[in-house]
Amino acid sequence: MEPPPPFYITNEQERRLRIQAERIEPALVISQPSSFDEYVRQLMVPPAVMDLARKAANIRLSAWETQAIRWHLDPRTDTSPRLLRQILHDKVYGERGDKSHPPYIRVACTGKGKYDGLARQQHGVPEPAFDENAKYGSPVVLEIWPAQHYSPIHSHGNTTGIIYCLAGQLDVMSYKKLDWDAEKRGLVTLTPGQCAWLTRDTYAVHKVFCPMDGGVMSSDGLMNDSADFGASFHVYLNENEVHLDAYEGADLTREVFEYIHETKRTKEKFTTYSDLSWPVLREVLARTPLE
Ligand SMILES: [Fe+2]
Repeated sequence: MEPPPPFYITNEQERRLRIQAERIEPALVISQPSSFDEYVRQLMVPPAVMDLARKAANIRLSAWETQAIRWHLDPRTDTSPRLLRQILHDKVYGERGDKSHPPYIRVACTGKGKYDGLARQQHGVPEPAFDENAKYGSPVVLEIWPAQHYSPIHSHGNTTGIIYCLAGQLDVMSYKKLDWDAEKRGLVTLTPGQCAWLTRDTYAVHKVFCPMDGGVMSSDGLMNDSADFGASFHVYLNENEVHLDAYEGADLTREVFEYIHETKRTKEKFTTYSDLSWPVLREVLARTPLE
């Protein structure tokens, strides 16, 4: 019998992949090194990536932001609309819902989001004071991962970027190439302040999972029953935006990325979009009564 999602590995394989991740060079995780070995493994991380990691190093969600996000993820049904839970639900069970894996929420730090209108309408957020012509593909994205939810295996193409853990916990599995049966290179758990990274040539293919306790999962395995979440901050630079490392000709950028469909197990293309924009979500969070 095949081991269960998200990674379809046995406990023994998981143990081995975690050990492998601690030996792989360059280091999969950027953090403040606490040993010579760790320092050496991080030496080979490209300067452009280190620059992104250093700039993100002190970012955290504040306590009130975390609490308000929890409120909006809470599965309890009452009279007040819980925005993030509603979006998750629509992403799975809506008209064009995706039932191949449990959903997560992408928040564009610049640009706009698909559910901005809904958020504004429900929470009385005034029309934006930012650029209406903004694009969907933001170089900086906040991702909210409900406990036990996960992404498909996907490739970030030729971008250079970081996946920086802001809250909770996130597991990142690195794959050698974009293929259902691709060799797994290592498994790491990120905690706040740590980041994983990628470039065209290194660690571009991965899968992200929030290992926190999700309570009872729905019978179709697509929706958890808790408000616990992990959050990550992603920066993806296209090749023409990376100033420190020179790369040649790009065709895969952050606007489109390729992934492996979780149930069909085939390679598909996905045009990037965001669910919300940060200015709208922040307004909603600020208007959320703290319990
Ligand atoms: Fe990713």
